[in-house]
Amino acid sequence: MNTNLQERAKRVEWYMNDRFGMFIHWGLYSIVGRGEWVMSTEKIPLEKYTPYADEFNPIHYDPKKWAKMAKDAGMKYVVLTAKHHDGFCLFDSKLTDYTSMTSCGRDLVREFVDAVRGEGLKVGLYYSLLDWHHPDYPKYDDLNHPMRGNEAFKDEVIDFDNYLKYMHGQIEELVTNYGKIDILWFDYSYENLRGEAWKATELVRMVRKHQPDVIIDNRLETSGEGFGSIVNEIPEEFCGDFASPEQIIPPEGIRNVLGQPVPWELCTTINNNWGYNPSDLLYKPSALLIRKLVECVSKGGNMILNIGPNGLGSVDEKSCKVLEDMGHWLDKNGQSIYGCNNANRPKPEWGWYTQNGKKLYAHVLEAPIGPLALTGISKDEIKSIRRLADGVEMKQGDSWITKSYEHIPFVSFGDLPHFSYPLPDPVDTVIEITLK
Ligand code: GLC
Repeated sequence: MNTNLQERAKRVEWYMNDRFGMFIHWGLYSIVGRGEWVMSTEKIPLEKYTPYADEFNPIHYDPKKWAKMAKDAGMKYVVLTAKHHDGFCLFDSKLTDYTSMTSCGRDLVREFVDAVRGEGLKVGLYYSLLDWHHPDYPKYDDLNHPMRGNEAFKDEVIDFDNYLKYMHGQIEELVTNYGKIDILWFDYSYENLRGEAWKATELVRMVRKHQPDVIIDNRLETSGEGFGSIVNEIPEEFCGDFASPEQIIPPEGIRNVLGQPVPWELCTTINNNWGYNPSDLLYKPSALLIRKLVECVSKGGNMILNIGPNGLGSVDEKSCKVLEDMGHWLDKNGQSIYGCNNANRPKPEWGWYTQNGKKLYAHVLEAPIGPLALTGISKDEIKSIRRLADGVEMKQGDSWITKSYEHIPFVSFGDLPHFSYPLPDPVDTVIEITLK
């Protein structure tokens, strides 16, 4: 493995162990309540959008509550939008007064990092490469800008280098003023705005000078689509430390062109919006999200699950309940997630395998008829079998009905050869197989 891959492997060790994080999208768009892209989708001009900064006063903001909610949900890291595409900063910046310091006299990022560290969780900051507030960001010909195609901006002359100076300067503020930052989540590259168009090499070198251990996503080069050079034989210096598939679990995990696993993280929303949108009631059930977290880990990946607090700083009850349910399951079964990875075995028809050294975890999502066939495992590998949640011994399932399948180990949930329904945990019953 080349030194860059060795350095990356060391950097991401904690991250690949922790597996599960919280994303928080929060800003002026949380007042508007129609998602974080509302300024672009509704082509809201600055003069109509900046007044939200005047009213932004999150009286219910208590990041200690958010951090505790993340911890109780079994999440090990939390990433907050320090600045989203609308350009509004939740942190004190010497480079602009379009910040929460001006709006409500609070450095919301400072309060956030202190609270998250207070719960012993890792700290991540999301920073948008796009900026629909900065005068030197492209507008008329841009793909996304709220003023795209607006004749008033057709002949505007901008100094993009001046914007990059601002962007790099703000990122330097974030990596020098807020203590150890564990994750920097840049978002996102598109069309000709990728890689060196952002002066990405200079940016990454500056970041690593201040925060040598920080891990960075791959969106200095790409977005939720594509992986960037992180999958190449010789990746760019700014390729990042993990790929960031968005709203999709890579069907076969992610490997580079040499077939080596690449760290990756599914980023997904608890409903269908990143930013607060009370009309979006399509919440993913906690059972589904638990199963998707298992699927991610079984394919060697992480999951970061997003919540979108409202403009006053509180989190809706439905989101809280989903997180609470996930935490209950992880309280009992977290050993089959944290520190686990792809088991490199054929996927069983009833669920998934995850593995951590000599511990192989069978995630049973569907009840068998009779004993459960532990396909992909050979009998002589098995030392013992226990149900993870309560440690109870699981009986090997061999009996007269399995005689024709001697090469496959079976395990029984009930008295053989009776039907083993229902599963002890209908969401995911985890069996811990200790290997010899
Ligand atoms: C997409 C959304 C952006 C969000 C990001 C999170 O890029 O457009 O608003 O911050 O996903 O991954």
